[in-house]
Amino acid sequence: MSKYLVTGGAGYVGSVVARHLLEAGHEVTVLDNLSTGFREGVPAGAAFVEGDIRDAAKWLDSSYEGVLHFAASSQVGESVVKPEKYWENNVGGSMALLGAMREAGVRKLVFSSTAATYGEPTEVPIVETAPTAPTNPYGASKLAVDHMITGEAAAHGLGAVSLRYFNVAGAYGAQGERHDPESHLIPLVLQVAQGRREAISVFGDDYPTPDGTCVRDYIHVADLAEAHLLALGAATPGEHLICNLGNGEGFSVRQVIETVRQVTGHPIPEVVAPRRGGDPASLVASAQAAREKLGWQPSRADLAGIVADAWEFAQQIAREQ
Ligand SMILES: NC(=O)c1ccc[n+]([C@@H]2O[C@H](COP(=O)([O-])OP(=O)(O)OC[C@H]3O[C@@H](n4cnc5c(N)ncnc54)[C@H](O)[C@@H]3O)[C@@H](O)[C@H]2O)c1
Repeated sequence: MSKYLVTGGAGYVGSVVARHLLEAGHEVTVLDNLSTGFREGVPAGAAFVEGDIRDAAKWLDSSYEGVLHFAASSQVGESVVKPEKYWENNVGGSMALLGAMREAGVRKLVFSSTAATYGEPTEVPIVETAPTAPTNPYGASKLAVDHMITGEAAAHGLGAVSLRYFNVAGAYGAQGERHDPESHLIPLVLQVAQGRREAISVFGDDYPTPDGTCVRDYIHVADLAEAHLLALGAATPGEHLICNLGNGEGFSVRQVIETVRQVTGHPIPEVVAPRRGGDPASLVASAQAAREKLGWQPSRADLAGIVADAWEFAQQIAREQ
């Protein structure tokens, strides 16, 4: 059993990973400022500190085996209008966290990076050696942190793994997605099924894809969580490993909407809207590195299953409100 600090563990992905760590018998402290997270999202059994990663030095000490770092601002649209927030929170916050880890002698890190570091892909599926050319400040801030971690590993012996998530979806029991405002497709379509919005906007249906709508790679949050536990085992002092996390299969916006219709039985009206700037036609991961270097094997790749878990969670939250 080891002790881990989970930054952002009151948020969607961090809370699911925290729960997986607890289920694997580890001790977990969640550090979260609740800027977008929920106190009730922190899994039972985890210690909770309400605080900011920029003050991580107050709480980190050598009793921690490692840090899983999810805390970030992650709204692409907001990052375009408030880039300073993204440099301050994501880059400044991560820099403070790395400094606190160095001071405390905590030498293992798993970081939530993103497909947004690649920008408009030159080739699909996207491999980790593909050019990184983010098209918004959110992706740029995450790429900056990846560079920071590479330097920290080389200079100070940190053992680190950056996991570049594609589209995370689904839920794990009481832990699921509840961003406000919501910008992710599956929860947005589910809001239509719940009667919380009238129709789903399809941004562009003239992309060079089979049905003209954007294609994305959806990964179940529980499969993603398992990769984090494997990453802790793979972290090697002085090395920074970067792995994409996706299923290697793309689904179009229309395929997702159709799947939600099948799962919920709701007709889900759709409205075609103009393309949004900076939305690549297709973002699909090569999952080969995660399979080879982490030994990761996703077991919940079926889109209907991912949507069904997200639907159950959305209904549960609606019942509680
Ligand atoms: N959800 C996705 O599809 C996706 C895709 C790619 C990458 N990511 C990355 O994964 C991570 C988790 O994403 P999520 O969807 O769970 O987001 P989320 O907003 O649900 O969770 C982020 C958590 O971090 C906390 N936080 C933010 N800034 C903080 C700070 N300075 N100090 C302490 N806590 C702070 C928030 O309160 C929140 O609980 C993020 O780093 C995000 O960039 C997510």
